Amino acid sequence: MSKKSGAMVMAFLWSCCWMIQLITGTPVGTPEMDRAFGAPLTAAEFACVPTFGKAAPEDFPHSEGNDIVIVPNKNAYLSRKWPNASAIPYVLDSTFSAKARCAIGYAMTQYHKNTCIRFVPRTVETDYVKLNNLDTPECYSIGLGYYKGGGAHEVTFSPSCYQYQAGSIMHELMHRVGFNHEHTRPDRDTYVNILWNNIDAGWKAQYAIAEGSNLLLTYDYGSVMHYGLGREMTTKLNTNGAVIGQRQALSQLDINKLKLMYCSK
Ligand SMILES: *[C@@H]1O[C@H](CO)[C@@H](O)[C@H](O)[C@H]1NC(C)=O
Ligand SMILES: [Zn+2]
Repeated sequence: MSKKSGAMVMAFLWSCCWMIQLITGTPVGTPEMDRAFGAPLTAAEFACVPTFGKAAPEDFPHSEGNDIVIVPNKNAYLSRKWPNASAIPYVLDSTFSAKARCAIGYAMTQYHKNTCIRFVPRTVETDYVKLNNLDTPECYSIGLGYYKGGGAHEVTFSPSCYQYQAGSIMHELMHRVGFNHEHTRPDRDTYVNILWNNIDAGWKAQYAIAEGSNLLLTYDYGSVMHYGLGREMTTKLNTNGAVIGQRQALSQLDINKLKLMYCSK
């Protein structure tokens, strides 16, 4: 797996300052802050079906990488639910390519088709999802879910995030609506072995147990929020054929969890 810790050290710095600034005033001086907003997605871009190159094994599935910049302590973060699932405002970086816009449109469409969640262009809302195009090695979400009064809720995609699959975009959007990695659930030790000695120091946080999570549903090896197996993690149980670390689609349990959190009355 390619490890790009330099960028993540930087991201941690941004995140520390972003959190402090969140309390004290408008954040300034991070790469995210300087991005210009572009046009919202068109109907054609929402209907777009992206085509991808074939991933090399080492590119998969870590292209979204070490990607929760502020590590929260829950799996489904019910307290960080967006207030109106039918209207989660978003803005797009003006520099996203046509290919990026297609992949983002496709990923958002999976939410629209399968859940009550709707990403809608921001008009005047204070709090909104801001999708940045930055040439970092990873894609990431700063924090998880919704922060009331937080303003721009940053998610960053570099070209590596949609080079081989749209699932990394779905993954980051799941962080943005309040979900942690599936393999950090408090019950995960029943399902996977974490091989700590093989995990680089800068990545250990992405494997730390999310204490006190709201689990919502059963453990899902096939979740778009599960990392792949390898040197860092092996499975304990028969996975019933689930592709672990897949980044093709929201799994049925991902969809059911999103619906439980956002769409049940
Ligand atoms: C939620 O968003 C929808 C769609 O914009 C809107 O019709 C509805 O009034 C909003 N609900 C609340 C409680 O603001
Ligand atoms: Zn992630």
